[in-house]
Amino acid sequence: MKIILLGAPGVGKGTIAKELVIKYGIPQVSTGDLFRENIQKGTDLGKKAKAYMEKGELVPDDVTVSMLRERISRQDCRKGFILDGFPRTIPQAEALEELTAIDNVINLECPDEIIVMRLSNRRTCSKCGAIYNLVTIPPKEPGKCDKCGGKLVQREDDKEEAIRNRLEVYRKQTSPLVEYYDRKGLLVSIDAARNPDEILVEVVGELGESDAVEEIRSEPDQ
Ligand code: AP5
Repeated sequence: MKIILLGAPGVGKGTIAKELVIKYGIPQVSTGDLFRENIQKGTDLGKKAKAYMEKGELVPDDVTVSMLRERISRQDCRKGFILDGFPRTIPQAEALEELTAIDNVINLECPDEIIVMRLSNRRTCSKCGAIYNLVTIPPKEPGKCDKCGGKLVQREDDKEEAIRNRLEVYRKQTSPLVEYYDRKGLLVSIDAARNPDEILVEVVGELGESDAVEEIRSEPDQ
């Protein structure tokens, strides 16, 4: 099962992806997380990506595609994956098509004012990556992850100016992918201005408890 989660920054792709990982037993592949890991480790890739990310601009396609290619070629992706934040441009979608066939594209939709509220109140666990929101999904104890006790931090690009720019970049460079995948008959759009449980039920309803999932679960590891 190879899934793309499409949608504007802050619509809830990461939140839903983490639930799908549990449900289907396939990894979440977030290009944003991969870039952030590289920045933290101070790699050359991280150095290239940092300036773009802080401004809310897209990292150039060639850099992003080669990172993605390497990631989905790893063993844990052999039975499928959930792409979160990739592709983000038509050239990225075309490059992906050459690498593999996608089964489903879930397009999460939400008004801008809700997105801005979600992003400016987002906190992420610095240890396990769990996602919280000070307003909608708060941690039990302020500043501390419910799951692992790690410190909750705010992302650099969750400042008001970068958020506005990310939304603009989404409209210009990423939103044409909605039509692109719709034309291929792969797209399902889902109202993401609801609570995560309701969204998840609808997403799973679209993806199904398919035989493919049962196969993935019953197949012995090679
Ligand atoms: P990336 O990390 O992918 O960020 P993004 O797409 O901007 O998406 P976010 O992670 O901000 O939001 P999300 O939709 O995952 O929402 P979340 O679940 O966290 O990319 C960052 C940067 O990396 C880019 O700007 C770019 O520079 C670079 N990059 C990455 N991929 C690239 C690519 N392919 N090409 C080029 N450059 C690339 O939720 C947000 C908040 O809302 C949280 O607080 C959460 O708790 C809350 N929330 C979520 N769902 C709900 C709900 N249903 N109800 C209430 N609250 C909710």
